[in-house]
Amino acid sequence: MGGSKKKIAEYLNGQATLDLLKFITCGSVDDGKSTLIGRLLYEAQLIFEDQIAVLKNDSKRQGTQHGEIDFALLVDGLAAEREQGITIDVAYRFFSTERRKFIVADTPGHEQYTRNMVTGASTADAAVILIDARSGVSAQTRRHSFICSLLGIKNIVLAVNKMDLVNYDREIFWEITNDFKSYQSNLDFQTVSSIPLSALCGDNVVERSPKTPWYTGPTLISFLESLEKNEEIKESFCMPVQWVNRPNSEFRGYAGKVISGSINLGERVKCFPSGEEAKVESILLYKESFSTARKNQSLTVTLDREIDCSRGSVIAAIDNKIELADTFEVELVWMDEDQGHQGRSYLLKSSVTTVGASLSDIKFEYNINTMEHLSSKQLYMNAIASVTLTLDRPIPYQPYKDNSHLGSFVLIDRYTNSTAAAGMINFALRRSKNIYPQDLNINRVARETLNGHEARVLWFTGLSGSGKSSIANLVEQELHKKGVRTYVLDGDNLRHGLNKDLGFVKSDRVENIRRVSEVAKLMHDAGMVVLVSFISPFRAERDMARELFNEGQFLEIYVDTPIEIAEKRDTKGLYAKARRGEIPNFTGIDSPYEEPQLPEIRLNAGHDTLEACANKVVEYL
Ligand code: ADX
Repeated sequence: MGGSKKKIAEYLNGQATLDLLKFITCGSVDDGKSTLIGRLLYEAQLIFEDQIAVLKNDSKRQGTQHGEIDFALLVDGLAAEREQGITIDVAYRFFSTERRKFIVADTPGHEQYTRNMVTGASTADAAVILIDARSGVSAQTRRHSFICSLLGIKNIVLAVNKMDLVNYDREIFWEITNDFKSYQSNLDFQTVSSIPLSALCGDNVVERSPKTPWYTGPTLISFLESLEKNEEIKESFCMPVQWVNRPNSEFRGYAGKVISGSINLGERVKCFPSGEEAKVESILLYKESFSTARKNQSLTVTLDREIDCSRGSVIAAIDNKIELADTFEVELVWMDEDQGHQGRSYLLKSSVTTVGASLSDIKFEYNINTMEHLSSKQLYMNAIASVTLTLDRPIPYQPYKDNSHLGSFVLIDRYTNSTAAAGMINFALRRSKNIYPQDLNINRVARETLNGHEARVLWFTGLSGSGKSSIANLVEQELHKKGVRTYVLDGDNLRHGLNKDLGFVKSDRVENIRRVSEVAKLMHDAGMVVLVSFISPFRAERDMARELFNEGQFLEIYVDTPIEIAEKRDTKGLYAKARRGEIPNFTGIDSPYEEPQLPEIRLNAGHDTLEACANKVVEYL
């Protein structure tokens, strides 16, 4: 559709004076989402003649709707166009009626929430939740509603679709409506309206349907036309600094995108995290100056004095309630195939910055059907949970309910780079503020000097029966002979004491390694050479352990014995038991071992003798 971009622009300009309603649609293609959006666009006559001709042909050819127009094809057709990158917006569709302009966010399932949460587009005025009249309120309906409530969307329209397939039965409609009403009492909505419709036949979408004489409420479009929007919260100015522009010593400009509010020349701003204040001296875009910086503009500001402000800082209005913290209570929506484990570390990406963040406590997971709180140590796809997050350093934030931009984030998997979860900050936990590291006069360096050698962590990882403990034992003897202060932390031994509450499911292993890493850190600080011998099957936790130390202090030693050899040796008889199904989650059999990618030392312990392996380690030291 060559000229359609221009046509849409003209069209929208013509409608410039109309007020705008933003809404999202929740539901799957099976619920008729594409058909509904297609119908709205069609009836609002935003589909142009050339597209309609194509659509009629396609509908005939594909024959899905007996020669009628198949509206789902329209939306899917636009999707194909989208892939070629030639439509006006990837995620939003625009249409308008005589009374209002509309923007509907139309992105598939999860992407929608991520986008909503990350870009702060959660300012949607309403959500249309589609329900298939044949199946009623489903788990997915509840999940979508719950997420809408978390996002702060106040107005909900239940579009009970496919009424044509249930003979426009009013009982079915009322049952679904009541079913939802009893669920929704748990959620934080202001209005919930329910409309019986058929997107396919056009019933009650734009035209009132003669087939539902028992329904006296508005059609979907007239409902959306007359919906009163919630008062917008007055946002104050906030701009994360993307880079500092310093072409010469005279000029220092802070470039970024205004994520909320606005600011005028001469007004005072405060920079976070430094807390320093200054006045706005100029607001620049290319070579032009402006007197006001407004939301969503990308620009450069200069200040009347030099302050501590760099990439990742935030410039905010003086009245902004931004604070700094590194421990938060948050709500998470888990959206990765890989489960989230208590104790595991991810990257937190906010509108301001990216930092390491670990799920230090999964407080509970919601049962989305009953809203009960369930205890949980791991988060599966679609789980919604209340979690304590601990960050590597403090970030500027505001609670989500006060500022959706500064209160929302996504968690990124460090290895796959996929979005693991979307989250919202409820509040910061104070405990980090009241605990100060105690300064001690005798430190590691002093102890190292007394010992006559440096402290180290030798982290042996490998399958059960690979030879980790035997090699660690030999290395320790050699070092001991040389007068080195050593200690071996062995998986089997710690599991009789400190870690005796832990089993072998993934989340317990994550915690097992987290604890031994902390113990190793203490012993390292005590000036010792610590030999850690744990299967430690997951890359994420080994890396987490490594990050506790400086470069060179931590050596990862991969005891690389192929499983066939370890199983043949079977010194403890565990492989035989595991094969008989008597030990579930056995590493290498029905629980994964993730090989180290760049270990400092790799021992070929399937072929070389234990002594040769131990020598290799001692020589390396
Ligand atoms: S880890 O995976 O959490 O690092 P860890 O090193 O503490 O494991 O403990 C492994 C030891 O526990 C093995 O050497 C073996 O003797 C014993 N064990 C018992 N059950 C299992 C199991 N399911 N998988 C692996 N090892 C097990």
